[in-house]
Amino acid sequence: MIRHFDGFFVIDTKNTTYAFKILPTGQPEHLYYGRRITIEEASDADCLTEKHAFVPGNTNVYDSEHMQYSLEDMRLEFSSYGKGDIREPFVEITHHDGGRTCDFVYDSFEINAKKTELSTMPGAYFPEGEKASPADLNADARGESKTDEVELVVTFSDEFYGLKLKLFYDVFYDTDVITRRSVLINDSENTVFIDRLMSSQLDLNRDDLVFSTFTGAWAREMKREDMIVKRGKFINSSYTGTSSSRANPFVMISGKDTDEDRGDCYGFNLIYSGNHYEACEVSVYGKTRFVNGINPNGFSWKLEPAQSFESPEAFFTFSPDGYNGMSQNMHAFIRRHIVRGEWKNRVRPVLINSWEANYFNISERKLLGLAKAAKDVGIELFVMDDGWFGHRNDDSSSLGDWFVNKEKLPGGLSSLCDKIKALGLNFGIWVEPEMVNKDSLYFEAHPDHTLEIPGKAHSEGRNQRVLDLTKQEVQDYIIDAMTKVFSSADISYVKWDMNRTFTDVFSQGAPADRQGEIFHRYILGLYRVMGELTTRFPHILFEGCAAGGNRFDAGILCYFPQIWASDDTDALCRVKIQTGYSYGYPMSTVSAHVSSCPNHQTLRSTSLETRFNVAAFGVLGYECNLCDMGAEELAAIKAQISLYKEWRNVLQFGTFYRGRSLGSSDEVLGHEFGNMTEWTCVSDDREKAVGMLMQKLVTPNTQFAAYFPKGLNPKIKYTFKNRKLKINVMEFGDLVNTVSPVHIKQGGITHNIIARFVKMDGEGEEYTGYGDAFMHGGISLKPGFSGTGYSEEVRFFNDFASRIYFIEKI
Ligand code: DGJ
Repeated sequence: MIRHFDGFFVIDTKNTTYAFKILPTGQPEHLYYGRRITIEEASDADCLTEKHAFVPGNTNVYDSEHMQYSLEDMRLEFSSYGKGDIREPFVEITHHDGGRTCDFVYDSFEINAKKTELSTMPGAYFPEGEKASPADLNADARGESKTDEVELVVTFSDEFYGLKLKLFYDVFYDTDVITRRSVLINDSENTVFIDRLMSSQLDLNRDDLVFSTFTGAWAREMKREDMIVKRGKFINSSYTGTSSSRANPFVMISGKDTDEDRGDCYGFNLIYSGNHYEACEVSVYGKTRFVNGINPNGFSWKLEPAQSFESPEAFFTFSPDGYNGMSQNMHAFIRRHIVRGEWKNRVRPVLINSWEANYFNISERKLLGLAKAAKDVGIELFVMDDGWFGHRNDDSSSLGDWFVNKEKLPGGLSSLCDKIKALGLNFGIWVEPEMVNKDSLYFEAHPDHTLEIPGKAHSEGRNQRVLDLTKQEVQDYIIDAMTKVFSSADISYVKWDMNRTFTDVFSQGAPADRQGEIFHRYILGLYRVMGELTTRFPHILFEGCAAGGNRFDAGILCYFPQIWASDDTDALCRVKIQTGYSYGYPMSTVSAHVSSCPNHQTLRSTSLETRFNVAAFGVLGYECNLCDMGAEELAAIKAQISLYKEWRNVLQFGTFYRGRSLGSSDEVLGHEFGNMTEWTCVSDDREKAVGMLMQKLVTPNTQFAAYFPKGLNPKIKYTFKNRKLKINVMEFGDLVNTVSPVHIKQGGITHNIIARFVKMDGEGEEYTGYGDAFMHGGISLKPGFSGTGYSEEVRFFNDFASRIYFIEKI
């Protein structure tokens, strides 16, 4: 819903309002962004408008006709350097004369009934047939609003230098999301260099806000960091070439008192997979500025006369209902307006991935053995990971040589695929198309196709080099090579990996004054390749991956509906990593596997139950050697998979709520992250829900626990059940002697025989009650084991224990 009157622009979504106005100087003053408010005419916004009578202290006057305006102390829709605003700029340009001052003032606006598509990158979209902006009945009645107003474009111009800046605002009414992006047009006769062009800017009249980022590294992605931003600035950015695990482009700004369910929370993200930048600055005058866009570090774009440059699209939301409220807006938006294609709303298959079972050491015999075992437990898709091509036996060779290793797979891909399909499984494959090893026929033939400085020693990562995707011939090679692979067998799934960060960034053959464009051109090239291949192979379920979660972002999600979230499959780490992702991304995009124990990344052992419970809240897969497992473990996995299939609609596409979160305490804000993680996923009709409670470490003599579901219908009567377990007597060690008439040596033959034949019943929990009682009172669980006797009335809950709960309308 977009309205314009007397220089005011007001954008309403279902529950939020965004407003700005054009000042007499021509600059756009930001007025408001937050919960929905009423603005019917210009005078209704007077209270939001900042009052100016003089410029403060030694700040500068914008111009002699408006002596009261100093840009340094104003809330602006965008800012530039040179006319008094010394905070984070939105746009920075080096003009043909070497000057860097910009002065964009209001020129014109248009309101469009259709979203304008970006011309070089993917953007958010409205699914065909969906009404962009449902009618606001009140506004309609006043005749002030049309239902088809979806996009506002406001143009500003710097006449002196002949440049135009267009700001695009698109409204995703139902999800309370607004997107913003910018386009710079060179209307002059001179070439200029863009040093930065941000996607969005938000100036708030507060200085007491918390900026939350999600940082990490390989195997420990998405750790939430909260900072109270004081005067000065905090920057979250990536300079790795990808959106990176070091700093995800999703960030939050909230009040100090905001918690999961209460309090103001803004969420921001970018539809972009390369170097990004999010700055949160508090000025000395007590205003907070947020900008996000392409990282200006390492960026310089030569813009010739009549050319234009577009920024990636940013999307943001506001919720007064805490982090969960904000996350749910983000989830709905990503599901409806980012993810696309045949798999968008389709239930995702349970897969087995060969990586941790075999690593590079694969053969047709081993793969078929694994596939057979997978079929027996109910797995639907078999994925052959790395090691199937060229002469790849480790990570030192063959990337680039996308032909089958006949020693490992004598009959080729199609023969393996046919055999796997004959077992009743679909077949998927791993590729890493953006990379080459020096030890490859491809590199030998095309030494100039990689990003590197000729003649200078190259700093490699994982023994590989990054292909120069800025070049069309390289893009064409990838499209061609992958087309051959994907059509050489009946492939239903592709895991698209990308395992290194960039170094020695230099495009061989590109002129010196265009080397600053390489990072961004790489991403544009990548999008062309991904766009072409997903169009050619619409049936394939693509999964993004970059050494785990090194490129988990909304740009990738425009092509691939799910992403491998982390190479860390340890359940304790994963529960934190997945909680981290859940702030900005829906669980249907988060791929999660059950692996073997001790875990390959941490050497920690957690129960099979906990590994499943955590992975089940993402898109479930298994990544372990089923062939080495005993009958008992296989039976447990079979039961897990059949349960998951029954509930996966809710788990993959329900509304996700965080309860308590496990972690350390946050000293800055005094938040206590506890010993428990609590998740709930609720079906759209709120008639079904799945919950999970996981504990980190046992504290003796603290047996009481309750699970607090969220999102239920308070007026519906539900049943609540846990998943009943069978407990292995070995778990109790030599406590077995407290009930045994004869002495049993711990771990001895008798102990093992008893363990094989005698299973102890885990606690059963089954209660009925109304949604409001469940949510507000919590569901009191049976007491946890605490040094005394064990029976079905006691919850076996050791270190890293968890339970999964099912709630259904009666
Ligand atoms: C990194 C990925 O994250 C892993 O899952 C696996 O596919 C390896 N690459 C294979 O080289």
